[in-house]
Amino acid sequence: PARPVNPLVKIQEAAAEFYHQVLLTTKAGQRGLEYAKSRSLSPEIIKHFLIGYAPDNDSVLLTYLKGQGFKQEELVQSGLFVQSQDGRLFDRFRDRLMFPLQDENGHTIGFSGRRLSNDKTIAKYVNSPETKLFTKSKVLFHFKEAKQAARSEGHLVLYEGYMDVIAAYKAGIHAGIASMGTSLTDEQVYLLKRVSRNIIINYDGDDAGQHASERAIRLFKQAGGFNLGVVSLPEKLDPDEYVKKYGIEKYQAQIRGAQTTTDFFLKQLEKKYNLTNDREKLAFVDEAVNQLAQLTNPVEQDMYVERVAKLAGVTPQSIKANLSRKRRQQR
Ligand code: UTP
Ligand code: MN
Ligand code: MN
Ligand code: MN
Ligand code: MN
Repeated sequence: PARPVNPLVKIQEAAAEFYHQVLLTTKAGQRGLEYAKSRSLSPEIIKHFLIGYAPDNDSVLLTYLKGQGFKQEELVQSGLFVQSQDGRLFDRFRDRLMFPLQDENGHTIGFSGRRLSNDKTIAKYVNSPETKLFTKSKVLFHFKEAKQAARSEGHLVLYEGYMDVIAAYKAGIHAGIASMGTSLTDEQVYLLKRVSRNIIINYDGDDAGQHASERAIRLFKQAGGFNLGVVSLPEKLDPDEYVKKYGIEKYQAQIRGAQTTTDFFLKQLEKKYNLTNDREKLAFVDEAVNQLAQLTNPVEQDMYVERVAKLAGVTPQSIKANLSRKRRQQR
């Protein structure tokens, strides 16, 4: 027999179904549907991800859930409402495209709602507050399905956002999950480790995303035991924008061509330093050698020694000498 669903989950699932029906079947939902269309979200995708719309109204959800028999205490605890000084409740999510967030068993535990407008004075995404069910640092968007898909696809692909996971899904990559921003946590790393040791990091191509990739690599390396790949998309594009611009075949090729972490770091260093300046060149070599010193596979190390030497315009022997010195210092 199936285990009984946590009673706190019931209200989240009722809200998810409500927002979904509002999007698909109501006049108020047309605004949301138009936005969804502008983001190339097909009816199948909307259904699969149970995407919804929270209308621009401060009590539709409240009225609906009361009508479904949920008690005041349950409403308060759900995080779906904001409470005024005098204790009255108001719908938290208004005029937003709603993404239900699920735990690893597929139970809805909270929401993230995207603003429809370009108005940068309001938050792009509003999330459920921390509740008994929802701890943002422990959630991975699309985790339940990705766990299953990882078995056949051979790896998990880590994204920043919902729209990126969805874009990947359209490209046949069903093992995508999102850390929901650039601050991957140790808890999320731990969850991933139980599912697959093979992780491809595909954060946004902008500076924030690339810095977050460096940070994510550090977290995975600290945890240990992962085989990492990194995709750096061109033109500061995020995966969703990349798929829109270049199509799914090109995107699949990006995933197949994921770089090693050493490759990724060397590319970052190349961008950081002006290699025509001797002082910067020395700093480049120093940082690059620090990277190479971490490699345990001698063949791999040799490969990259050659590359660094070429980039700096020096002999591989000098890089090797530098590397041995660094290793001695580390011991
Ligand atoms: P991005 O700013 O890259 O947004 O943030 P996005 O995913 O590309 O969204 P679209 O395509 O503009 O709709 C990456 C992720 O960070 C979290 C969300 O999970 C978002 O998907 N985020 C971002 C927030 O939680 N709040 C925000 O205000 C912004
Ligand atoms: Mn995106
Ligand atoms: Mn981003
Ligand atoms: Mn993005
Ligand atoms: Mn985006």
